[in-house]
Amino acid sequence: MARTVRIAPSILSADFGALGQAIQTVENGGADLIHVDVMDGHFVPQITIGVPVVAALRTVATVPLDVHLMVTEPDRQIESYVEAGAAMISVHLEATIHIHRTLSLIRTLGATAGLAINPGTPVSALEAVAEQTDYVVVMSVNPGYAGQTFLPTSIEKVRAVRTLLDSVGNRAPIEVDGGVTHSNASSLVNAGADILVAASAIYGDPDPADATRRLRARALASNQQRKVD
Ligand code: DX5
Ligand code: ZN
Repeated sequence: MARTVRIAPSILSADFGALGQAIQTVENGGADLIHVDVMDGHFVPQITIGVPVVAALRTVATVPLDVHLMVTEPDRQIESYVEAGAAMISVHLEATIHIHRTLSLIRTLGATAGLAINPGTPVSALEAVAEQTDYVVVMSVNPGYAGQTFLPTSIEKVRAVRTLLDSVGNRAPIEVDGGVTHSNASSLVNAGADILVAASAIYGDPDPADATRRLRARALASNQQRKVD
C-alpha cells in the first residue's frame, strides 16, 4: 500500500502582515492543511491568534484549517473555533480535565478531534482515550514557540503511539509538531507519522512553496524502508 503524508505548514512563522498570501503560497506548494497555533498566554507564554483571525483565514484557505489549541480550559472556546471554520481541532491532554467530554464536544460540533501531548507526557497517558481520538498530535518540542530544536526521542514516541492506537483498533493518524525539518521528515514517517507540521522549515525558507513540496518528497523518500502490513 502506498504511503502518504499530509503536510501542514504552520503560519506561526509566516509574515503576520500578509497571512492571506502566506496561505496561498504554501497551497501552491501542495499544502494539505493549514496549521494554526492558538496560544493563550497561560498554557504557553505567548499569545498568538484568536477566533477572528481564524475566521479571516477561512475565507482565504482552500484546504482545511487544523487548529492547535494551546490554551487552558479549551472547552470554553471550541464552539467559536468551529464556527470560525476550523475543520480539525486539537486540545492538549495536559490542559483538559474531562478529556472524553472535550473530544466528544469537538466531534458533536462537526470538527475532527485531536489530542496533543507534550514531550513530558508519556504515551501511557493516552491509554484511556486511545479509542476516542480522531488524531494524535505528538509534540516534538515543548509548545510555545516556532524554531525550536526537535527532540529526537519523539521518533520512538511516534512509534509507541502507533502501537497503542493499533492495539485498540484505531487507525487515527499521528501528527508531529515541532522542529520538523527536511532532514528528520522521513524518520518520522517511517516511525508512523501521517501529518507533518512545519513552521520554520517552510516559512523560514526563501521559497515556502518549494519548501512544502520538498518536505513531502523528503518525507516519502525512504518510504520503501517502512514495513507495510
Ligand atoms: C509550537 C507550535 C508549532 C510550531 C512549530 O508550539 O505548536 O506548531 O509552529 O514550529 P517549528 O516547525 O518552527 O518548530
Ligand atoms: Zn502547533
